[in-house]
This record gives sequence, structure tokens and C-alpha cells, in this order.
Amino acid sequence: MTEALWTSVDRYFAGLFIGADPALDAAMASISEAGLPPISVSPNQGKLLHLMARMCGARKILEIGTLGGYSTIWLARTLSIGGKLVTLEAMPKHADIARSNFVRAGLSNMIDLRLGPALETLPKLHAEGAGPFDFVFIDADKPSNPDYFAWALKLSRPGSVIVIDNVVRDGRVTDASSTAADVQGIRRMNEMIAKEPRVSATAMQVVGSKGYDGLAVVRVNDELPRRA
Ligand code: SAH
Ligand code: DHB
Ligand code: MG
Repeated sequence: MTEALWTSVDRYFAGLFIGADPALDAAMASISEAGLPPISVSPNQGKLLHLMARMCGARKILEIGTLGGYSTIWLARTLSIGGKLVTLEAMPKHADIARSNFVRAGLSNMIDLRLGPALETLPKLHAEGAGPFDFVFIDADKPSNPDYFAWALKLSRPGSVIVIDNVVRDGRVTDASSTAADVQGIRRMNEMIAKEPRVSATAMQVVGSKGYDGLAVVRVNDELPRRA
């Protein structure tokens, strides 16, 4: 089994369940034309995020790592009037392209893009009293994943869902002796999640047009019932 086969199956499902979508297709084209890295979620992954956020009835969404806004558009489309999505991006060029994609998708009034390193913008969000967020998508620099997970939890409520992209990295995540900063960040985050009594979690391997990777899904537990 090869990446070519995974890609053709991805195309088959995207053809059935997604089809042509002018705003998303234009966003994807703008990302490659601008020379941004081809690391947006795939169409099927985008739709999965969209469905998960919708299943949560999310009204407040937080995304860490915008790139050109492809995943952001999928997520923002779940919001009804009054809903809000905050997305965090460190690179001005990525933020500019994302903003123009939000305008074209007719979503710019629901999306608040905060430019800057997420470890600076997250404490500001917290200080402002933003949140609790119903759904959080973590998809920025992988070495910071332990910190991003801690912030996501701080900005959540019981029942919130946190999804983390890229937790498999071609299977390198199982290598405890890896010196790669991304693998170390992902492993440390996974261990934090596993030890955290306030959440329940799993992770899934994914193959497709983006190669071999995976995502973790975390739900913040309900508060324990109080005893009289
Ligand atoms: N979620 C996007 C892909 C994000 S790629 C999608 O699927 O469409 C990761 C993004 O995180 C890049 O745009 C990168 O510039 C950004 N990033 C990297 N380090 C960051 C940091 N410290 N703070 C905020 N964003 C960061
Ligand atoms: C990389 C980052 C991503 O968010 C992704 O989905 C794939 C690759 C990367 O930095 O290599
Ligand atoms: Mg990713």
C-alpha cells in the first residue's frame, strides 16, 4: 500500500462527500501560489474537524496555527450567528493570506485572527477572559504542544473537545530515544494528556493525501458530582 493509493481513496471520498467548493478551493490555490508549505489539513480532514465541532454544538472555537486559513474556514462554517472563532498565527505573511481567504469565504466577521507567537497571544486571551472555548484545534509548531495543551485546558470547560493534529509523524512518535524536537514535543504532550485526570482521550492513525500521520481527540471530563 502506497501514498498514491491513499491519495486516490482520499480523492474518492472527497468527490463523494465534499465536491467542488469555491471558497475552499480558492483558499487552497492561494496557499500554494503564495509558496506556503503544503501542510493544511486535507479536505476530508477539514470536513472531519467541521463535523466534530458541529457535533459539539461549538459556539466558541480556538485554533492554534492558521497557515492560510484552510482548516479555519472548515471550522468557522460550523458557527451560527453570534459564534466566534479565534485563530493564532505567528507569521505575518500567513496571516495576510488567511485574512483574504476569510473575506472571500464570507466569514471574516466571525473570525478573530491574532498575529504573534501563540505563547504570547494565549496568555492575552486568558487575561481578556476569552473562552471557555467549546472546541480547540492545536496545529502549530509541534515542540510547543505540551504548552498548547495546557493552555487549551485552561481555556476550556467540562465537555470541551480538544483535537491535536500530527501526533504520528510517519510513526516516529513511538521512538522514545528520538532527538527530534517535534517528536519530543508530541510525546511529552501525549504523556501529559495520559496523566491528566481532568480529560479522557484517544488518538488515531491517519493515512491519505497528507501521508501517514494522525490526530488525538481529547474531551474535558464532566465535573465530579458533589457529595452532600
Ligand atoms: N491549521 C492549518 C495548518 C497550520 S500549519 C490548516 O490545516 O489549514 C502551522 C502554522 O502554525 C503555520 O502557519 C506556522 O506559521 C504557525 N506557527 C508556527 N509556530 C507558531 C507559533 N509559535 N505561534 C503561532 N503560530 C505558529
Ligand atoms: C507540518 C505541520 C503540520 O501542521 C502538518 O499538518 C504537517 C506537517 C510540519 O511542520 O512539517
Ligand atoms: Mg497539521
